[in-house]
Amino acid sequence: NGYSNNVRLASPSSTTTSESPEIDWDNLGFSIVPTDYMYSMKCAQGENFTNGQLQCFGNIELSPSAGILNYGQGLFEGLKAYRKHDGKILLFRPEENALRLRMGAERMCMPAPSVEQFVEAVKQTVLANKNWIPPPGKGSLYIRPLLLGSGAVLGLAPAPEYTFLVYVSPVGNYFKEGLAPINLIVETDVHRATPGGTGGVKTIGNYAAVLKAQKAAKSNGYSDVLYLDSIHKKYLEEVSSCNIFIIKGNVISTPEIAGTILPGITRKSIIDVACNQGFQVEERLVTVDELLDADEVFCTGTAVVVSPVGSVTYLGKRVTFGKEGVGRVSRQLHSALTSLQMGLTEDKMGWVVE
Ligand code: COI
Repeated sequence: NGYSNNVRLASPSSTTTSESPEIDWDNLGFSIVPTDYMYSMKCAQGENFTNGQLQCFGNIELSPSAGILNYGQGLFEGLKAYRKHDGKILLFRPEENALRLRMGAERMCMPAPSVEQFVEAVKQTVLANKNWIPPPGKGSLYIRPLLLGSGAVLGLAPAPEYTFLVYVSPVGNYFKEGLAPINLIVETDVHRATPGGTGGVKTIGNYAAVLKAQKAAKSNGYSDVLYLDSIHKKYLEEVSSCNIFIIKGNVISTPEIAGTILPGITRKSIIDVACNQGFQVEERLVTVDELLDADEVFCTGTAVVVSPVGSVTYLGKRVTFGKEGVGRVSRQLHSALTSLQMGLTEDKMGWVVE
């Protein structure tokens, strides 16, 4: 499927013990590794989430008429925990994920956990699964919070009950290319989002909507798809699972957040990191012509971190980037961000949570 997927459990029984999971930490990819515990909390429509708890990781039971299954009433989040050499475990800006989930919940007519409840649930889930956090430098523990309309509905309406879940999986690089540059194709027919739609929130359906274009791109040898705006069909939006940036000289530009693009937390962090490094950063409409003329292009996201783009294909024409060392600036930004996330550099921004 185009993702790095090399993890092997040395023995099937290792999935049931948290003491020392027998994972090949040197070959982690981005695929689900069942861990020990997940967090679960429920609430009725019109009420607030109150008591959540850890339970064994496993299948959940849903009515066939659950809101999520019938009408896609659901949101997800993604963040990571890193293990430091001194044994400390670090999260990166978890309250930003909590706030984004709350914003999405408002759009999708769902109750949401408070920021404190969200961060507490994440911390409890990470600590309960701490033996699954890769050793320093080998990867991270990917944390996937989910907010689902779990109550039964038949007519189209918000579900009467909601479930907030948090599960985790150890991960390495997202793309099978690893840290090598990825190759994107610009999609001209399929659009990821449209003004007034839900492109700006992390709802589950946004991701199902791109699977067809992404599958076609992968079968033609591309790493992923870059979508354009649905009105003018010339402004960059985002890649299936991440935001996009272009570099020209000292100016780094990225599509502005205007309802159709996911407000990525890595996107936001990289904007600050790049400004601190002396780049001029612009959030604005970025045309496909500017993309083709860029010195360098890169993607950002929790899963992809900062991924350099080696080539973009648009209307059958392939343009390559960074002839003098592919992804020089993106590697510099990747290193600055991950050093912070892994606790290797001083956290002047106060982004890291122990
Ligand atoms: C993430 O980067 O965490 C995401 O949620 C994207 C997902 C498609 C892997």
